[in-house]
Amino acid sequence: MSPSRKTPPQPSAFTYSTDKRGQGSLLCDQIPLTRLAERFGTPLYVYSASEILRRYRAFDDAFQPIPHTICYSVKANSNLAILRLLAKQNCGFDVVSGGELQRVVQVNRSAARNVVFSGVGKTVVEIQAALKAGILLFNVESQSELRTLAECAEKLKLVAPIALRVNPDVPAETHPYISTGLREHKFGVPLAEAYRLYGQAAESKWLHVAGVSVHIGSQITDVKPFSAAMERVAEVVLDLRAQGHKIKYVDAGGGLGISYIARSSDDFAHAVSTYARSVMKSLRGLNIHLLLEPGRSIVGPAGALITRIIYRKRNGQKNFLVVDAAMNDLIRPALYQAHHEIVPVQRDHSLGTQTTDVVGPVCETGDFFARDREMPEVNEGDLLAILDAGAYGMSLSSNYNSRPRPAEVLVQGKTATVIRKRETFRDLIRGEG
Ligand code: LLP
Repeated sequence: MSPSRKTPPQPSAFTYSTDKRGQGSLLCDQIPLTRLAERFGTPLYVYSASEILRRYRAFDDAFQPIPHTICYSVKANSNLAILRLLAKQNCGFDVVSGGELQRVVQVNRSAARNVVFSGVGKTVVEIQAALKAGILLFNVESQSELRTLAECAEKLKLVAPIALRVNPDVPAETHPYISTGLREHKFGVPLAEAYRLYGQAAESKWLHVAGVSVHIGSQITDVKPFSAAMERVAEVVLDLRAQGHKIKYVDAGGGLGISYIARSSDDFAHAVSTYARSVMKSLRGLNIHLLLEPGRSIVGPAGALITRIIYRKRNGQKNFLVVDAAMNDLIRPALYQAHHEIVPVQRDHSLGTQTTDVVGPVCETGDFFARDREMPEVNEGDLLAILDAGAYGMSLSSNYNSRPRPAEVLVQGKTATVIRKRETFRDLIRGEG
């Protein structure tokens, strides 16, 4: 999972401007990252609003042939400014906790109307909050949850719109930690049981059977598993209708992968339309409203983590670049052996290349961003950009080693706005006694 290329093409939000002497300076849209690093410090998450919107629109366009709502998966990046940007496009949201729902409501109270609530462990408090907010759909994952939901709805005298998250038993090639559509996984309900639960749900006047939902995993780049899952879902819709259920929604989940090696925005338009065709194929003629829950494919390539090299060191045969970002800021390489391209913010073509590990200061061997990576020669004090870090970067960050989390900056045209302040020591100890 760690291919290496000498000069990877950049995602379109992050490109080099090159001066007369051939020196390159990496920009986010039109703003040099050196300037942002000086102004806001490092490590620093930088996102491009235009890239997020471009990707959202490409998604939306690809599904034009059928009625649909894109429910951006908040877990990928839950910053309020990013949610606000998407809410302004009338985007819906996929949430998996009371906290995520509160974020959506904070941004726009009426956005709750387009919220789907997924997850295997919804608590009574979370269910009550979602009922009161009037969300679009509960994706129910077990018999116990169905019972709890009916009880909560009855207490509040509200009707809960539900879909069962069915487990299509479709294998998808991705990291085992983020594959979800197999029988052995904790997610969803096996098809046979789903029919029984739909029957039970229909008997409760506090539950309104409204849809069928599925999510087979994340970072899936081959579209075949999506078509296979949707074929099964289409059969389920027909069976349920034959049994008298009024199925309006099909929720196809998220999961469309991105290329962490290289992909331009135009490639995304192509990838998303291939994906859309494979999702829609089995649904034509079914007269359903399609819900989609993309996360990574909307925000991943729109963000980078900017970090400064603190030290260079050599242990025997190995070179290390010790940077000021660490696994607490971006855990994907440590957790999933994920590959992220790492490029110098200032590129000097007269310099050669080096093979090096890029590591953080945290006291764990797993604290690395790259291993034995061939990359341009850089020096202490230089800046690096870790690309495709907009999804599951900041949202998976922690304070491990008592490290305050990075600031986040959103670039919109020529302006850069801090959308989350860098944490301070006071933030770290807040609530401790
Ligand atoms: N819907 C459901 C029910 C999900 O569980 C997920 C992701 C999504 C939608 C959004 O999937 P996406 O379009 O972003 O692939 N931390 C991992 C990814 C975990 C994904 C969890 N569920 C990573 O950094 O790769």
